Amino acid sequence: MCGIVGYAGGEDAVPILLDGLYKLEYRGYDSAGVAVCRDGHLRLAKTKGYVRELDRIVDGGRLLPGAVGLGHTRWATHGRPTDSNAHPHISHGGKIAVVHNGIIENYAKLREYLVGKGFEFGSETDTEVAVNLIQHYYNKHGEILRAVASAARRMEGSYALGILCEDCPDMLIATRRESPLVLGVGDGGNFLASDVAALIKYTRDVYTLEDGEIAVLSESGVTVYNGDLEMITKTPERVDWDISAAEKGGFEHFMIKEIMEQPDAVAKTVSPRVADGRVTLDELGIPDEYVMGVTKIYIVGCGTASYVGVAAKYNFEKYAKIPAESVVASEFRYSSPMIDEHTLVICISQSGATADTIAAMREAKRLGAKVLSIVNVVGSVIARESDWALYTWAGPEICVASTKAYSTQLVLTYLLTLYFAEKRGAISAGEYESVMREISLLPEKMASVVKDRETYQYLASIYFNNEDIFFIGRNIDYALSLEGALKLNEISYIHSEAYAAGELKHGPIALVTEGTLVVAVATYGKLIGKTVSNAVETRSRGARVLSVTTQSGADIVGGVSDRMITVPDTHDMLLPSLGVLPLQLFAYYMALMRGCPIDKPRNLAKSVTVE
Ligand code: G6P
Repeated sequence: MCGIVGYAGGEDAVPILLDGLYKLEYRGYDSAGVAVCRDGHLRLAKTKGYVRELDRIVDGGRLLPGAVGLGHTRWATHGRPTDSNAHPHISHGGKIAVVHNGIIENYAKLREYLVGKGFEFGSETDTEVAVNLIQHYYNKHGEILRAVASAARRMEGSYALGILCEDCPDMLIATRRESPLVLGVGDGGNFLASDVAALIKYTRDVYTLEDGEIAVLSESGVTVYNGDLEMITKTPERVDWDISAAEKGGFEHFMIKEIMEQPDAVAKTVSPRVADGRVTLDELGIPDEYVMGVTKIYIVGCGTASYVGVAAKYNFEKYAKIPAESVVASEFRYSSPMIDEHTLVICISQSGATADTIAAMREAKRLGAKVLSIVNVVGSVIARESDWALYTWAGPEICVASTKAYSTQLVLTYLLTLYFAEKRGAISAGEYESVMREISLLPEKMASVVKDRETYQYLASIYFNNEDIFFIGRNIDYALSLEGALKLNEISYIHSEAYAAGELKHGPIALVTEGTLVVAVATYGKLIGKTVSNAVETRSRGARVLSVTTQSGADIVGGVSDRMITVPDTHDMLLPSLGVLPLQLFAYYMALMRGCPIDKPRNLAKSVTVE
């Protein structure tokens, strides 16, 4: 979603801001803008569309000199993606400029209040309310930090704000509530950003701004205050992300690069948690009494993360013998889950910043559950607020459609399942050992699947004109079907849906006509025959069947499929890790054949920080 970058230093700001905005493009956006303060005057440029258009308008920054500035990519919420709704926004009177991520929920009331005070508005955004509210308090107090603190107290909802004021031309101000902001401490200049990808090229020393804090950045330093404007001391953290992770490294898209990185990412995520053939999760420090006493698990997440939860649900029930339910976070937060202190809520999120997942986590804690999170971004809100955080070591995931985050989340759910199953005596020693043996072979088996890209290129060349595709599967294959359909929706814009294979005949089969493509996901040994029967029912009605199965399932599946993809055999628990790879590659090459903007699909955002 929206991205913020800011710079106060000794160099011209706009080239640095544009560079940061390019790095933030992956978050998803539909307009972009920059503002600088120079010789006591604010100047800005903004446009609907891509950063490269903004770059052209300001001639790479040459037309907008100045050493203190702000940049923004906007993902439209209040108001359409137009030039006038793009950020930065300027206050009535032109003294203050603001960029904003998040949603100010009481903006209508505040706008009415400000209109009553004579303020005029030129856009439909809630951001213009924020900038005018600051201006209102600036008129009153004559002091910009007091004005920001007073405005912050009146705004409800979520916001991360970057602020420039003509009267303080050397200063960049920032504050936040719920939307993330990081401050980068550089040599000869300091930075502000909504995520580290924008500033990692310049510095690896960052502060995370906490809710309610106000920061002042200048060429010489960074000062942070609490909401009462008392100065506070913060310790910088060192970011160790590999800078090349934010570059395509010779691949045409981040998505294919990230698909290919999955075997390594899985190995990196698993290896620190396995010693002598056993899962060690000492890093969490979960008391054994708690593990023994868990009576129910909810697994909560959004999008791809929620489909990891669907696979995990089956595994927790089957191997750890704990009742488990997977619920999308946007539903969980407003439902009435039956929770007590023996309920474990597992929140899964790549970014750790998804608004619905954060709200679900807080609701679970309020109701008395313990929360364990599986998160990729270190120090993110979900990681910090949960009782226990397990990190996926996937590195930055840039493509909006998630791949390596999915795979690393999935393996952590296996480790958790085994950890709970062993402690509770729910799994036999033989079975435990056989899963562990297969976990150690997983990266190698994954690598053998992703290296065969030609197969998917070929399949895409046959199927790319399909406008409706159905995915069917049972149990963990149903979880995979959900993810396979989502991937196609996201990046190829093909209408695709997933059904539990047994449900097909209760309605959806009415949609099957001559030539409909049905992807039958049939990797789970015990249920392959059942799914195949459902695929045959669609074939008898004219469907073409593309199957995904295991090497040992090929005999049953081959004869009834138009085309078949096989993945290596592995332990049943781990099948989703191999089964997902053909679905990702298929979606990627389908989108490629259709000429779609794969890494930044229309209307989608990487970090969904609004409800
Ligand atoms: C967005 C992204 C999806 C992602 C979902 C959850 O919708 O486009 O790829 O799966 O958010 O994100 P999270 O960061 O919580 O995993």
